[in-house]
Amino acid sequence: MRVHVAFTPAETVSAPTGIVVDVLRATSTIVQALEAGYRRVLSCSEVEEATALRDADGGGVLAGERKCVRIPGFDLGNSPREFLEPRGETVILTTTNGTRALVAAAASCERVYAGSLLNLAAVAEAARSGGGDVTVVCAGVLGEFAMDDAYTAGRIAELLGGQPTDGAVAAVRLAGSYATAQDGLAASQSARNLLAADLAEDIAWCARESVVDVVPRLIGMRGSAAEMVTQRDRR
Ligand code: MLT
Repeated sequence: MRVHVAFTPAETVSAPTGIVVDVLRATSTIVQALEAGYRRVLSCSEVEEATALRDADGGGVLAGERKCVRIPGFDLGNSPREFLEPRGETVILTTTNGTRALVAAAASCERVYAGSLLNLAAVAEAARSGGGDVTVVCAGVLGEFAMDDAYTAGRIAELLGGQPTDGAVAAVRLAGSYATAQDGLAASQSARNLLAADLAEDIAWCARESVVDVVPRLIGMRGSAAEMVTQRDRR
């Protein structure tokens, strides 16, 4: 198994399995939403796509952010702490980077999972058991490197083992340079943006490791949205 880390979506190499990481906060939020009992998350690139999907489906909880802040008229923002109890079956989510990275990964990988620290061990196990090469895709920030995603990708790559590419070796070494996950996330611009938005609690929330075994998995596209459901059919 070849294991690669793409530090930005543009570096994604086609592989049977892709793990998309936007640890602050989109993929952490998707993991938490499915853990709480939502049945699916429809991951959209644009605000207009999300609202059109809700109107077409006649329901769904509209959620997402721009500049870390809840989108006007939406039910929820993008804080995983807003997803502790399900308010329906479907979340329609749009965020600045993470949901777009999921949509993009759907085009280059046969299997796509959402990875975070919350489901660290579970997502690595799911990818390993799928067989074949794995690309861990960092969502980054507006196409650029993001330390929080690189840290998390390094932690996932370390658990995956296999034959690491230079990108994976670099990510593992980067992750190893931080004493704790909180330190790795706090070193990022994404964390500083959350601090500025008075959302510091989200950093600590997302830094918790392997606390759930939910593995969000792409099951197909709903229009232009990537439909993510939980790996385990528990319900
Ligand atoms: C993103 O998709 O860029 C992030 O999830 C932004 C955020 O945490 O608000």
